[in-house]
Amino acid sequence: MQAEFDMHGKVALVTGASSGFGAYFAKLMATQGARVVVAARRIDRLKQLVNGIQVEGGDAIAVAVDVTDGASVKSVFDQAEEHFGTVTVVSNNAGVADPKLACEIDEASWDRIMDTNLKGVWRVATEAGRRMMAAGVSGSIVNTASILGQRVSISQSSYGASKAAVIHLTRSLALEWARKNIRVNALCPGYFPTEMTEGYFTTPAGGTYIAAMPAQRMGRMEELAAPFLLLASDAGSYVNGVALPVDGAHSLGNL
Ligand SMILES: NC(=O)c1ccc[n+]([C@@H]2O[C@H](COP(=O)([O-])OP(=O)(O)OC[C@H]3O[C@@H](n4cnc5c(N)ncnc54)[C@H](OP(=O)(O)O)[C@@H]3O)[C@@H](O)[C@H]2O)c1
Repeated sequence: MQAEFDMHGKVALVTGASSGFGAYFAKLMATQGARVVVAARRIDRLKQLVNGIQVEGGDAIAVAVDVTDGASVKSVFDQAEEHFGTVTVVSNNAGVADPKLACEIDEASWDRIMDTNLKGVWRVATEAGRRMMAAGVSGSIVNTASILGQRVSISQSSYGASKAAVIHLTRSLALEWARKNIRVNALCPGYFPTEMTEGYFTTPAGGTYIAAMPAQRMGRMEELAAPFLLLASDAGSYVNGVALPVDGAHSLGNL
């Protein structure tokens, strides 16, 4: 199985790589042999990540990107091609949350969630797909969605709607690009400790919520490794258009 998860020869782009899942996926793919472009807005964080990858013997570059800006997205692909060649694996992972009851969400918050989580994923995926098709290469795109794109939860209407749309977009792109050998899948994590979630899950209310989950704990980052690599690497060469929950059965119980 180790050989099937091998990513030598792949050029991988990870958005939202300055923290949390993105930083973890970047290190994981570098360990598997991919050359990795790490992208987000906080360039200092990205540079630290690149140093860490290089110390471990991997190959990576840091490129600033704002996924809400089409020109910035094009530029990250240009820089990736200059350094490493056509991007063949994308972890389309940048995302933001703003948990609020529906009537308390203002237009600016709604637009920020949709522009980052949905339109940002669309910008990055279509730029990647266009360039893979032009270069005549196969590829894999892994969109980070969420179990909140499959189930509903209070105070998550904007975030959940954006992630549900990401899952639908994932399926649409998988269908359109299957004949070009470009796979598009969605990873749907339950709750994992990252900067996005730590504010709530370190509170007493967060602790009570965790105790009520089927697994009675949050996910551990390393528990995403095999599911992520299944979708990103050639190990999952016939897995296309799926939305894969990794949640310790959380989405089967109460959210
Ligand atoms: N943690 C969980 O339990 C959980 C569960 C399900 C799904 N998710 C999803 O997992 C993904 C990663 O989140 P995380 O949990 O790892 O949280 P995180 O540590 O807050 O990471 C979010 C990342 O997105 C980047 N980002 C935000 N807006 C951006 C923009 N406009 N342009 C470029 N990058 C942007 C941030 O980087 P900069 O601020 O440096 O730009 C950061 O690297 C998100 O899509 C999130 O919705 C998380």
